[in-house]
Amino acid sequence: MQARQAAVAFRQRMGVKTITQGTRIQKLSIHTPDDLEARCAAVAELADEIWHEHFTAIIGAVQVDYMLAKFQSAERICASIRQEGYVYLTAADTEKDRLIGYCGVVPEDDGLLLSKLYVHSDFRGRGIARSFLEELFAMCRQEYGLDRIRLTVNKYNFSAITIHEKNGFTIIDTVKADIGGGFFMDDYVMEFVLPKDDR
Ligand SMILES: CC(C)(COP(=O)(O)OP(=O)(O)OC[C@H]1O[C@@H](n2cnc3c(N)ncnc32)[C@H](O)[C@@H]1OP(=O)(O)O)[C@@H](O)C(=O)NCCC(=O)NCCS
Repeated sequence: MQARQAAVAFRQRMGVKTITQGTRIQKLSIHTPDDLEARCAAVAELADEIWHEHFTAIIGAVQVDYMLAKFQSAERICASIRQEGYVYLTAADTEKDRLIGYCGVVPEDDGLLLSKLYVHSDFRGRGIARSFLEELFAMCRQEYGLDRIRLTVNKYNFSAITIHEKNGFTIIDTVKADIGGGFFMDDYVMEFVLPKDDR
C-alpha cells in the first residue's frame, strides 16, 4: 500500500498520467525538474519526423525546414516553456519507451491557445489527441480559469480540420501570417468553447 501511495505521489509530482493502456502522458512546464532540455530535444526530434512526413505535401520541404528551425527546435521549445508560459504534454508508448505525440499550449487573455498538436503516423486514430484534449479541457478550467481553446490549422490540412471538427472545434476566422523568409501561414482559426457546466 505504501509503495502504491509513493508511486501515486511521484506520478503527481512529475505530472505523469496514464491515459490508455501502454500510453503515458507527461507534462513539461517551468516546474519540470532537471531534465527539461533532454525532454525538449526528444520533442524536437519527433517534430522533425512528423513535420517531414505530414507537411511536406502541404507546404513543401523548404518551408517545413524553415518552420521546424524557427518554431520547433529543442532550444525554441525549451525557451517557450521557460520564458513564455508554454506547457507541453507529451505521450509516450511505455512498451517501446518511445515518444509518440505532443501538444503545446499557452494561456492568452481570452482563451488557451493550442499552438501544437501532433501524433506520430504509426499511432494515429488511437485516441491520443483526444486524450490530450481532455487533459487540456481540465487545465483550461482548473489552472487558467479560461472557457475556450483556440488553434490555427493550415487551410489545406484537410485531415486535421476534419479531426478538429470531430473533437468539437468550429472554424471562427481565417488568418494569414507572415513568418519571415518569404513564407506565410495561411490558416483557419478554430475554437472549442467548454460546455457551461464544465466552466
Ligand atoms: C490531428 C492529429 C493530432 C489527431 O491525432 P489522433 O491521435 O490520430 O486523433 P484521435 O485518435 O484522438 O482521433 C480523434 C477523433 O478524430 C477521428 N479521426 C482520427 N483520424 C481521422 C482521420 N484520418 N479522418 C477522420 N477522422 C479521424 C477519430 O475517429 C476520433 O473521433 P471519434 O472519437 O469520433 O472516433 C493527428 O492526426 C496528426 O498528428 N496529424 C498530423 C499533424 C497535424 O496535422 N496536426 C494538427 C495541426 S493543427
